[in-house]
Amino acid sequence: MALNTAIISGASDGIGAAFSKILIKHGWEVIGISRNEKKLNQLKKTIKINKENFKPYVCNVKDLKKLVSIAKEVNTPKLIFLNAGIYSPVNSSQSNIDTYKNHIDVNYIGVLNCYEAFLPKMLLNKNGQIIIMSSISGWIGLPKAAAYGPTKAALRSFGQSIRYDLYSKGIKVQVCSPGFVETSATSLNDFYMPGLMNVNKAAELIYKNMKSNKFEFSFPFLFSLFMKLFSLLPDKLSSYLIKKNIS
Ligand SMILES: NC(=O)c1ccc[n+]([C@@H]2O[C@H](COP(=O)([O-])OP(=O)(O)OC[C@H]3O[C@@H](n4cnc5c(N)ncnc54)[C@H](OP(=O)(O)O)[C@@H]3O)[C@@H](O)[C@H]2O)c1
Repeated sequence: MALNTAIISGASDGIGAAFSKILIKHGWEVIGISRNEKKLNQLKKTIKINKENFKPYVCNVKDLKKLVSIAKEVNTPKLIFLNAGIYSPVNSSQSNIDTYKNHIDVNYIGVLNCYEAFLPKMLLNKNGQIIIMSSISGWIGLPKAAAYGPTKAALRSFGQSIRYDLYSKGIKVQVCSPGFVETSATSLNDFYMPGLMNVNKAAELIYKNMKSNKFEFSFPFLFSLFMKLFSLLPDKLSSYLIKKNIS
């Protein structure tokens, strides 16, 4: 029987790596895309069963041409997991223009590149699913997240919009907006991260939620609930609470 194929951008580390392992465990074929060949091969070595179903592709998500050529080579995806991303905390009282631009190029344009490259085959099949990795940072501006947060807000809006065109074509769209997950990205934070979640647990939750009919899903439960409430409060109160709890 043919395997279901998933495209995972940012598969070499963190959430993408943990989620790739879960999909392989559940019998999927994973096309794992990221820049670092050594990390991709290392990940393949750690997969215990069916490691041949992990197919590493070295590619920068900024490179649309290469993504299109990968798309031609691989099986029609049942799932496109738009996950590759970077995070640099910034002090916005200083000049950060290169950091701002790089976040937009990788986190936002990189997602659009993967989307454009892999969507056409999925459309032909009239069946599939797209998960966009946004973040709670996309709901409300958080300290040190002036480069990162706006890209995640843009991704959420992108997901909200594309679903209207794609649902009628048999494609389900979901946005995943986690709080803090323990990865090399969050290891850069020097502040207290409420509800910091283990990466394997986060990947399990993504696997569980991808089978649901929710458009957006978020975790950990309590932290995301608080942040949702914060985002609905009057600004004076929400900014006070954020300063007090995340800094
Ligand atoms: N960790 C959290 O708390 C958290 C919370 C909310 C949302 N998220 C989102 O979840 C996603 C994964 O985050 P993470 O914490 O797992 O980060 P991570 O551990 O730093 O992993 C990021 C992945 O993206 C890849 N990547 C980065 N730039 C790339 C590029 N230009 N082209 C191709 N691949 C690239 C990296 O691989 P290479 O270095 O090999 O290219 C790596 O595999 C991100 O979109 C992030 O914004 C994370």
